[in-house]
Amino acid sequence: MCAGSGGVGKTTTAAALAMGAAAEGAKVAVVTIDPARRLANSLGLEELGNEPRLIDPERFSAHGVEMRGELWALMLDAKRTFDELIEHLAPDARTRDEVLSNRIYEQLSNAVAGSQEFTAIAKLYDLDASGEFDLLVLDTPPARNALDFLDAPARLTGFFQGRAIKVFLRPAGLGGRILGRGTGVAAGLLRRVTGVDLLEDLSVFFRALGGMIDGFVARADRVGALLADPGTTFLIVTSPRHDPVEEAIFFHRKLRDAQMPFGGLVVNRMHTAPELNGSGPEELAGELGAALAGRVATAASELTALARRDAANVEHLRATLGDPPLVIVPERHDDVHDVEGLAHVRAHLWGDA
Ligand SMILES: Nc1ncnc2c1ncn2[C@@H]1O[C@H](COP(=O)(O)OP(=O)(O)O)[C@@H](O)[C@H]1O
Ligand SMILES: [Mg+2]
Repeated sequence: MCAGSGGVGKTTTAAALAMGAAAEGAKVAVVTIDPARRLANSLGLEELGNEPRLIDPERFSAHGVEMRGELWALMLDAKRTFDELIEHLAPDARTRDEVLSNRIYEQLSNAVAGSQEFTAIAKLYDLDASGEFDLLVLDTPPARNALDFLDAPARLTGFFQGRAIKVFLRPAGLGGRILGRGTGVAAGLLRRVTGVDLLEDLSVFFRALGGMIDGFVARADRVGALLADPGTTFLIVTSPRHDPVEEAIFFHRKLRDAQMPFGGLVVNRMHTAPELNGSGPEELAGELGAALAGRVATAASELTALARRDAANVEHLRATLGDPPLVIVPERHDDVHDVEGLAHVRAHLWGDA
């Protein structure tokens, strides 16, 4: 599980990890979420759907990466995953169609799926249950809050076991009263005025959903258990900047509190101080001319300052977390959008750069 705050390189790390493990012989599935377009393109991900597909090994060998195993990938389609869950849990075809075509469901599923946290792990659960893969690598949503992700199963269970929904489902409860026979006149009027049979939608939705609650809760529980399984490892991905580092520290504490398995830190996009090979400004001026040498010297000192700042942030991170396993991936001049870029990140992750 590659977790961390937005834009730090979770998707990049997930793809590079999956590629590296597949190159070594494993059958790997990587679940990517909103990958950058160029990366998706270069892996052929855009042609992929919500099911894992084998990425053509030629795409890798063309860049000198030999695949001894297999890399399967998918781009998570949150809405589709949620629909599949309904298909799976519905007791019969009629209930399934009733829910899927229901306006309330449409709104709700877009809201829930839009948050992506639940659907991502629902997908993970399915892939795990299929037993087809040696390793599953999960990219996580560009979360406003990395923790939404950890809480998703519990929140969903809470929703279905909560008072609000029970009130609706009890035959003599609020739902029954609102939606019961006595409302026929009011409903009819509303329907005539608005042209929308909202109450009918509500009633059908909750009745159909009522039969699936146990299934939902059971699944959310199993997903929660999968996250805490010793076979699961969370990597916290961060950049060496101030805010992501603080968020990584926070996330690490939450992982520990929730007794989730923490594997280590990936510090991505680290700046390194330039080496001028002992050339001072004078030597440079001799070679480049004064104007260009001046600009090079300015750039070099700015980069050195960035490198110092990054190093201090990483030191703070390391000390606060008690010296955990930590890998550093340097900032590349270009972003990571193809197999060559991934191979570069992989080499750092494996420690053989
Ligand atoms: N080490 C790196 N050097 C340069 N660019 C990088 C590096 N790692 C990631 N990027 C770029 O940073 C952007 C964000 O990376 P991404 O993996 O999509 O982050 P996240 O999934 O955490 O939002 C992408 O454009 C990616 O190509
Ligand atoms: Mg991402």
